[in-house]
Amino acid sequence: MISDEDMRRRDAPHAEQRIRALTKSEFALLQAEIYRQSGICLPNGKKALLAGRLRKRLRALNLRSFGDYYRLTKRDEAERRTMLDCISTNETRFFREPRHFEFIERRVIPEWIAAAERRLRSKRLRVWSAACSTGEEPYSIAMVLLKHLGASHDWSIEILATDISTRALEKARQGLWHIERASEIPLEYLQEYMLRGTGLRADTMKVGLEARAVVRFERFNLHRDVLRDGERFDLIFCRNVLMYFDAPARAATVERLSDRLAAGGYLFVGHSESLLCRDERLNCVKPTIFARADRRAPATPRWSMLDTAGIA
Ligand SMILES: C[S@@+](CC[C@H](N)C(=O)[O-])C[C@H]1O[C@@H](n2cnc3c(N)ncnc32)[C@H](O)[C@@H]1O
Repeated sequence: MISDEDMRRRDAPHAEQRIRALTKSEFALLQAEIYRQSGICLPNGKKALLAGRLRKRLRALNLRSFGDYYRLTKRDEAERRTMLDCISTNETRFFREPRHFEFIERRVIPEWIAAAERRLRSKRLRVWSAACSTGEEPYSIAMVLLKHLGASHDWSIEILATDISTRALEKARQGLWHIERASEIPLEYLQEYMLRGTGLRADTMKVGLEARAVVRFERFNLHRDVLRDGERFDLIFCRNVLMYFDAPARAATVERLSDRLAAGGYLFVGHSESLLCRDERLNCVKPTIFARADRRAPATPRWSMLDTAGIA
């Protein structure tokens, strides 16, 4: 008798063969389409990576070539979104780049408290985690803000968490992780804001109601979408996504983010991304942390970006 495993092994090579290899011209078409849709710039060396990420989707759709898949994405908006799900890199961690969170605790929160006491600012905080992936980043921010400002209940905390990937956002909304990931969260936050599963779910943890209540998830494409109202944010996190864009897409994104930063607000970018800033509206306060100058009339910004390695 042939087992399921034997049948899978027997059929697998044929299934692989049904999909023709990604040609140079198909790669160029998909590369341009992905850039147009998302700003993600796939260098020529990423041909094998792209084929690898899309092959499973082609198989699920029973398509024989990447050209067929490209034509499908041209006529089907939902498939374009799925394609971006397939190709996006969603790697993230709780409290990734801990110096950003220390900066918020030690510098930003005391500034806010002092300004509120002098009635120079309101106690309404708005934060944008602009490429939030599966939610670890906005929930980490939520825990820090709740711990320092949540107890008195007179601060209102709203965190908008957005990403281009609907699949990542679904996971973020679930707020459920394997318990192994608990090691990423400092104990004081873990005990206060995360819940450990019981019984059959003892190997899971989920985000508690308090942190969940302050985070709102929405799909948002940094390359193409515009926020609905003229809302401004006290903090904007845009970490580990600009590195996937080319210089023009990066510059346009940073300019738009800067438009949305409140006077005195802070922009955080990833540690492998460093901005060379010639925007009068932003001051570099630490590598990868920028403060919006506290003035009303913004000047026209000019941006360029270098990798940290490129800065002498
Ligand atoms: C490597 S993860 C970074 C997650 C988190 N910010 C961090 O630093 O841990 C990059 C995220 O950027 C998202 N992304 C890529 N292009 C995007 C775009 N045009 N608009 C919004 N999000 C995008 C991806 O879906 C992915 O979840």
